[in-house]
Amino acid sequence: MIRKGILLAGGSGTRLHPTTQATSKQLLPVYDKPMVYYPLSTLLLAGIREVLVISTPADLPQFQRLFHDGSHLGIRISYAEQARPEGIAQAFLIGEDWIAGEACALALGDNLIHGDHLSTLLRAASARPEGATVFAYQVRDPERYGVISFGADGKAVDIVEKPLKPESNWAVTGLYFYDKRITDVAKKIKPSARGELEITDINHWYLNEGSLHVERLGRGTAWLDAGTPDSLLQAATFVQTIQTRQGNLVGCPEEIAFRMKYIDAEALRACSKLIGKTELGRILKDIADGTHE
Ligand code: DAU
Repeated sequence: MIRKGILLAGGSGTRLHPTTQATSKQLLPVYDKPMVYYPLSTLLLAGIREVLVISTPADLPQFQRLFHDGSHLGIRISYAEQARPEGIAQAFLIGEDWIAGEACALALGDNLIHGDHLSTLLRAASARPEGATVFAYQVRDPERYGVISFGADGKAVDIVEKPLKPESNWAVTGLYFYDKRITDVAKKIKPSARGELEITDINHWYLNEGSLHVERLGRGTAWLDAGTPDSLLQAATFVQTIQTRQGNLVGCPEEIAFRMKYIDAEALRACSKLIGKTELGRILKDIADGTHE
């Protein structure tokens, strides 16, 4: 099982200016929680308990204020700076010492995935000893993303970053699992025409080797990124709709840590106290007390 995961939460958030001119995009609220809670939840669901948060020198202290060392969640959170946004794949170079030659997952700080059977898929990806796993999702605007095309046998044949003419409508989501060669692979790739170390080039490397597993997420799963005013609002509305209709939380690391038995009821009660007298704090207390259905 993969033990480590990087949470990448840097970048300049230009598509959300002026909102992100003075604050980190990944700390903006998606309904009742900071955006970064959602990808952190995904990593926890995958069974990952060692997390490296990477952000800009200016924003990193805010993430430390939010998560501290992670012990309240029964996990270990470390921090590293990305001096300039020189590409998603740079995360593995920044994190080289921390990764220490192990397998490692990566979650983008502005991605939210929610759906049935997600934990099973995540755990299967995490248990794969060799190669890489990415998740593909059908979208109407694939040209905004990394795009995977498939052959007649259903196998992935190509993966292209933001193609002008997409070969399919399957976008690659911002969640990746890599085997222990990841740092060496990251060192092999060169900056793209836009001057970034592209995560798509890493995925392409595994594809060429024949070891890229592509998990297609179906209609019962929601994948949202929250990098523009519209997608941020959509993500917030989605979380509000599910939570108020079902009474279940979406993307709450405190709840997941408890359900995964990383923390006990007393520790969850302490989390709920910190969050205070909000609806979220109340639900967490009910979960700790065993009175939440
Ligand atoms: O959301 C999924 C997509 O994410 C994938 O389909 C694409 O293949 C992948 O390249 C990426 O595309 P984006 O256009 O969303 O990448 P963006 O530059 O916006 O970066 C994604 C997040 O990572 C964003 O929240 C900022 C953060 N980031 C990005 C870069 C380039 C960093 O923290 N540091 C960076 O250097």
